[in-house]
Amino acid sequence: MKEKRRPVIVDCDPGIDDAVALLLAAAAPELELVAVTAVAGNVGLDKTSRNARRVLTLAGVEVPVYAGAAGPMFGEQVTADEVHGVDGLLGIPTPEPTFPLSEGAAWDVIWEKAAAYGGALEIVATGPLTNLGIALTKYPALPEHIKRIVLMGGATDFGNTTPAAEYNIYADPEAAELVFRSGIPIAMCGLDVTHRAYFTQEEIDRLAAIGTPQAVFAARTMGFGVEWHQRFLVPGAPMHDPCAMMYALEPELFTGVRCWVGVECQGRYSRGKTVTDAYSDAKFPGGPNVELVTGVDRARFVEHLTARLAALGAP
Ligand code: BDR
Ligand code: CA
Repeated sequence: MKEKRRPVIVDCDPGIDDAVALLLAAAAPELELVAVTAVAGNVGLDKTSRNARRVLTLAGVEVPVYAGAAGPMFGEQVTADEVHGVDGLLGIPTPEPTFPLSEGAAWDVIWEKAAAYGGALEIVATGPLTNLGIALTKYPALPEHIKRIVLMGGATDFGNTTPAAEYNIYADPEAAELVFRSGIPIAMCGLDVTHRAYFTQEEIDRLAAIGTPQAVFAARTMGFGVEWHQRFLVPGAPMHDPCAMMYALEPELFTGVRCWVGVECQGRYSRGKTVTDAYSDAKFPGGPNVELVTGVDRARFVEHLTARLAALGAP
């Protein structure tokens, strides 16, 4: 008997690596991609909500895309167009969307779908957590209706936007703290694992050689990351957002530890830092709230991600 597909919402800010995560979701036979909710992040909401539809169009699927927050719940907006380009997709030629933005706000859609799927809905979040923070604030019963959140964000001991903070958490620490405090089961794919889940230039070239529009596009998004991440001593392009999607699809490729995670919302130097007790003798009261993903079988990760992208374009 065919297995039932798992309902998933991807909450994202495409973004070059969000784009690859979206391609993976569109390619995954085990997922029912219920909706995509866009949030301001790497670039503004007008661009992220359009880019999500451009990438889904490239994938050959029509999934409703809803716009969410145009900026963080609190604090100043922080973009990352120095990484993703002014259009958010590095100017890489991508089809115009064949379908319009759906009507409705991201947080209402998350609540409605969570209730409709009776606790089976999973969220893969690859941007700032503003849409989820607003959904949790507006709908206090939401945690009972969500099976799990797999998120890309945070790190145990360093950052990529400040020395202390990773971009997605730094861009809206208060929203992230609401998510970590929500009681929803969380798997956190932070820089600990994403810097180990990289593609070398040779692996990127192999992906490009598949020759399908989706594989060529994905390879082009990765090319930029190789040089950029030399400063972080990563010998390739880290697959930040694809890592979260791959964890949702194939958790057996990864290792992790259960621990407590909270977000520093005050710090003078450390705002947006994910504070964990993973490697600390002193444990936070209340017990673990997160599966902190730390390790990956990189060879299999690269092989499976490549194969999944190749399947998307196969006739
Ligand atoms: C995260 O920040 C964004 O720029 C990427 O899309 C990814 O979600 C990595 O820190
Ligand atoms: Ca992202």
